[in-house]
Amino acid sequence: MQRVLIDTDPGVDDAFAILLAMRSPELKVEAIITVCGNTPVAQATQNLLTILGVLDLDEFPAIAQGAAEPLVKQLVTAAHVHGEDGLGNTSQLRCADGNLLYAPADIEMSPLSGVDLILEMAARYPDELIIVTLGPLTNIAKAIRKDAAKMRRLQKIVVMGGAFEEYGNVTTTAEFNIFVDPHAADEVFHFGVPIHIAPLDATHQVVLTGERLHAEVDKHDNKISSFLKDSTQACMEFYRQHVGFWGFHIHDALPIGILTHPEHFESVDAYVQVETAGVLTDGMTVADLRRERRHPNPNAQVCIKVAAEAFLDHFFKRLH
Ligand code: RIB
Ligand code: CA
Repeated sequence: MQRVLIDTDPGVDDAFAILLAMRSPELKVEAIITVCGNTPVAQATQNLLTILGVLDLDEFPAIAQGAAEPLVKQLVTAAHVHGEDGLGNTSQLRCADGNLLYAPADIEMSPLSGVDLILEMAARYPDELIIVTLGPLTNIAKAIRKDAAKMRRLQKIVVMGGAFEEYGNVTTTAEFNIFVDPHAADEVFHFGVPIHIAPLDATHQVVLTGERLHAEVDKHDNKISSFLKDSTQACMEFYRQHVGFWGFHIHDALPIGILTHPEHFESVDAYVQVETAGVLTDGMTVADLRRERRHPNPNAQVCIKVAAEAFLDHFFKRLH
């Protein structure tokens, strides 16, 4: 069993990842921290409670709210993809009786800040805790700045982010999580704790079409299925209009899969840097994958290949 802490900016695909993680017996989700990204952090926290409310849980991970702003840059959000509320506009859907269709879980937040809860968990599970980041890396960088010694005891950090031999999804060169806070990402990548990156190069291999999603969720008449359907309408419409197919990429589910089913993923070692001073390349991730004169000290594993169908089959088996 792997102890994980999830750092997230829910976010529709974050929701898929969190539901998958909570349904994965290979993982013990000790804590979930929110960060600004797809949506402002207060809304991200509200969305996290809504996501956890979809599951009939009798015990919950520790929950805390993290950074409201990136380390240096102004916050850029993604309402055009994830909806005004960041969760496919599901947070205000109501039943016939007027109650919220997806009521937030009744959980008491940790009294700690997001950064302090990360440090608390790193100290409680030395050499064991795995951090999974599904949004900008602001909280992780802040935790390193506050207490590097505690953060050095992390087992590893699994990151959804970056784009290497794939175009970016915010600019031609940058992926959203890294683009929002490139300074944090560069600090985390150079900190020295093992890093495993699931970039767009991998996440774009897993194409969840609307037809497949609806066929799967229509097999079951339960809250999770209706949530998966309701929460994805807006982003799949965005994809239809701007990406060229009706569906979307479940980017954030891949780091969970890397932990529970590593056999579905292939990775290479690489020295990874982040552009923090570029104009056209701001937030670009650069991996030295040259065949000769390659950087001698790789700082990350970079996932380059996914058994996409096997991963999607696994995803739906776990969510039903
Ligand atoms: O580029 C995809 C990433 O940015 C995902 O984590 C998505 O949720 C957004 O945060
Ligand atoms: Ca995310």
